[in-house]
Amino acid sequence: MKDKKVIVNSWNEWDPLKHVIVGRADGCCIPAPEPALDAKVPEDSDMKGKHGPRTKDTVDKANQLLNDFVSILEKRGIKVDRPEPLNFNQEISTPDWKVESMFGCMPARDVILTVGNEMLEATMSYRCRWFEYLNYRPLINKYYEQDPNMKHESAPKPRLTDLDYRKDYLSDKIGIQKRLEWTEKKFFVTTEEEPLFDAADILRFGKDLVVQHGFTTNLKGIDWLSRHYKNHRVHAVNFPGDPYPIHIDATFTPIKPGLIINNPHRRLPKEQKKLFEDNGWKIVDAAQPAHNAPPPLCYSSVWLSMNVLVLDPKTVCVEKSEVYQAEQLDKLGMEVIPVELRDAYAFGGGLHCCTADVYREGKLEDYFPKQ
Ligand code: ALA
Repeated sequence: MKDKKVIVNSWNEWDPLKHVIVGRADGCCIPAPEPALDAKVPEDSDMKGKHGPRTKDTVDKANQLLNDFVSILEKRGIKVDRPEPLNFNQEISTPDWKVESMFGCMPARDVILTVGNEMLEATMSYRCRWFEYLNYRPLINKYYEQDPNMKHESAPKPRLTDLDYRKDYLSDKIGIQKRLEWTEKKFFVTTEEEPLFDAADILRFGKDLVVQHGFTTNLKGIDWLSRHYKNHRVHAVNFPGDPYPIHIDATFTPIKPGLIINNPHRRLPKEQKKLFEDNGWKIVDAAQPAHNAPPPLCYSSVWLSMNVLVLDPKTVCVEKSEVYQAEQLDKLGMEVIPVELRDAYAFGGGLHCCTADVYREGKLEDYFPKQ
């Protein structure tokens, strides 16, 4: 029986999910110009040169899909909480900078990292997302009051001055070839001025945390995480082949103990595979996405096909139109629950992105004893 006082507990990406946060699309804005933002928006994107609130029709549609996803989860006995949106269409500032608007609160996974009984607010690495944690504070404060063992932590707020961004990336005409060369060499947008990380660059495997070094998380951010999670082993990974390495969850997706699907255009380098292979984990190429292009005004790639939410080691939510990904997971022995979400992708991502774990059954385990 679950102890009623334990509200927050989640050690990995696959144990049975009992309580989760699902984001909202309300008031979401396309970010105004800020340093290196262009570097992170695909060069051929229809978002270039646009900013400000998204249209009411698209917000309503995205919210309808998110609400339907909530109903699916609730019908399976999973408790769902929602953030409280701020007014994102207002200027924000710190002593170092100001920007015209904030972003939104659809991708809860980007901001909140749950490890065991602790919820950690990530530093974030875009100025427009500096205050995003505030959308989740009402929920986190409630968990903190109800659960005497819950820990609420906030990573050091970064200054995000121009020194955080490499000038080489300020051009919006770098070209895919150059980007691929740079990302392969781990020459990313963010400098090593101060620790930076987004929560969605981190995957939890019990005692091991796997963190993508890329545009949104730097080495100082990874070092901060390893000093913070003293009882964990923190592993930096990177995925050559991704011209926009932002968030790990359309690239490397654990499905259950021993099984990971990996984006075939962004394979984990051989030497970094050792940890998984030595411990009997299989890394298989993910199925092709069903679409040739992302939906309109979307930051993410077609590989949101892999952005699945595992409900337990036998059950997984897959976006409804992603028939190839669904077929692959079915063949791998999973029960697949189709969930329509594509028209919400532009608000910050897929089924994994729009959620943040509160409670999964299970304890801290060591899945990689050989290292
Ligand atoms: N940056 C990830 C992708 O779009 C989410 O592939």
